[in-house]
Amino acid sequence: MKLTRLILSAPMLTALAAAPASADSAAQGKAMFAICAACHSLDPSVNKIGPSLHGVIGRKVGTEPGFNYSTAMKNAGFVWTPDKLAAYLDDPQKVVPGDKMPYAGTDNMDTARSIVDYLEQVSK
Ligand code: HEC
Repeated sequence: MKLTRLILSAPMLTALAAAPASADSAAQGKAMFAICAACHSLDPSVNKIGPSLHGVIGRKVGTEPGFNYSTAMKNAGFVWTPDKLAAYLDDPQKVVPGDKMPYAGTDNMDTARSIVDYLEQVSK
């Protein structure tokens, strides 16, 4: 019985030790961004299926020139802060109802935040 407990608790300890520092979080976000990169470029003015994410933090929603946004996104009327962006990546329809991004969201705030940490490093 004691041995079983030990075995069960070992992975939990490992998980605690691996609690992400910000740099680790950004590295995790970078790995996640591979999904986003199918539709989004980080280069200025390069719109693909989705708008360029160059400089997205601090940008007003739905304003990348030359991209054909949904009406919902055009009319959203707020600025992408790290918090808003994390909430959007977690659950896009909750933050911009009617948005047409073909991505359902991370459904996990930690994962969403790690992507934002990555974008804060690279999207300036
Ligand atoms: C299958 C394609 C696709 C994937 C995958 C995708 N997006 Fe998008 N994204 C879009 C489209 C299309 C829009 C525009 C939505 C609209 O106009 O309603 C958009 C919009 C956005 C916007 C709003 C940009 C602005 O200019 O206001 C952000 C931010 C964003 N996506 C980030 C991400 C991130 C980060 C990921 C990965 C976690 C991701 N997207 C995954 C296609 C995609």
